[in-house]
Amino acid sequence: YGTQSINENGHLTIGGVDATELAKEYGTPLFVYDLELIRRRARGFIETFHKLGVKAEVAYASKAFSCIAIYQLAHEENLSLDVVSGGELYTAIQSGFPAERIHFHGNNKSYAELVLAFDSNIGCIVVDNFYEIQLLKEISETKKQSMRILLRVTPGVEAHTHDFITTGQADSKFGFDLNSGQADQAFNEVRDHEYLQLLGLHCHIGSQIFETDGFSLAAKKLMKKISEWKDQFKFECTVLNLGGGFGIRYTEEDKPLEPQDYVEEMIKTVQSHAVELNLSMPEIWIEPGRSLVGDAGTTLYTIGSHKTVPNIREYIAVDGGMSDNIRPALYDAKYEAVIANKVNEQKTSTYTVAGKLCESGDKLIIDAPLQQAGSGDILAVFCTGAYGYSMASNYNRIPRPAVVFVESGQHQLAINRESYENIVQNDLPLSLKKGE
Ligand code: LLP
Repeated sequence: YGTQSINENGHLTIGGVDATELAKEYGTPLFVYDLELIRRRARGFIETFHKLGVKAEVAYASKAFSCIAIYQLAHEENLSLDVVSGGELYTAIQSGFPAERIHFHGNNKSYAELVLAFDSNIGCIVVDNFYEIQLLKEISETKKQSMRILLRVTPGVEAHTHDFITTGQADSKFGFDLNSGQADQAFNEVRDHEYLQLLGLHCHIGSQIFETDGFSLAAKKLMKKISEWKDQFKFECTVLNLGGGFGIRYTEEDKPLEPQDYVEEMIKTVQSHAVELNLSMPEIWIEPGRSLVGDAGTTLYTIGSHKTVPNIREYIAVDGGMSDNIRPALYDAKYEAVIANKVNEQKTSTYTVAGKLCESGDKLIIDAPLQQAGSGDILAVFCTGAYGYSMASNYNRIPRPAVVFVESGQHQLAINRESYENIVQNDLPLSLKKGE
């Protein structure tokens, strides 16, 4: 993946840095992000729009991995930002990210979160439901402040990896249903509002998608709706946001397209419908998360205990697990790994990689082909950059790992390792009197 290689000592290197040296310096478990690969992905998306002459915003869906330094990198690479909570928004503002390129998502944004969005003067709020419309009217009227909005609709296209399904009505907690009049009602509630400026529509059909058909079908449905609103109300749509969801390769079973190929297909679909429906070409916004940071992340662990279950399997246990990567336990997600200090050796062994948490399902990889491994070896699990650290927890009071960025032989800490002091910092002593 990316800038990974093997050095003269037979060690894995990432961004020109020896992974075992990183493990020594920063400790394990450790998330290592290859910045060059993230930059390459970001430029791939942006250049594709450029090449096809389409105005665009490529918003990094930062739920995939959020911290101040990654927001600064996103800014350097001319990305916009998709945030989904007050916490992500606050982090983005703290990082110095230009507020006008922040888009705010979520199906239950609170009054306080929306006020923070107004006070920060963010670029756009993606409106999810009728309650939110009421809150937005109230806040914008009180503050006499305008806000650009998109309406999030569920087009009845739901995609996951190879398959997509279409239904008349999407059973989703997100957005206004496109096919049952809900979206029309939302449109009517906002279109003449003094402070809410409706730019267009948004949809997001799923995640880790390999096929382009789902995106094309969703784009078609949204363009049809826009054309209806144009005919009936002279609505001029300036933005079509088609969400994220572009799949990446976790294991050899995954065969995604190049990230920008999804976008190229998407643009062509929108262009052809624009011609057919006699609409002007809207700006296209996308929100990739996983495809920007997923394969740029590698987790390094130290191997500790080893257990053989006779005639069944061999376990090796690492110093992290579902507290830093819940995806195998939650989604049955698959990963590939190597022993970072023995990459030149053949993968002659098969181990099930167990985490250290008190839960039998805490296994990172089942029956992984690996170099022969023992206590003290460093295990590198690939493609952990998306929804790994961001979904990490303190289950079993395990401190969250550190995060390191590498590029061109340099390395820096992006997030400190949590300490035991951090773990107890919000705890308070028992003060209620024992009932007699
Ligand atoms: N936009 C919206 C509105 C979304 O809901 C999402 C992801 C994205 C963009 C980014 O999707 P991506 O490009 O990363 O696929 N925790 C799960 C993934 C949840 C995705 C949630 N929404 C996982 O670990 O696979």
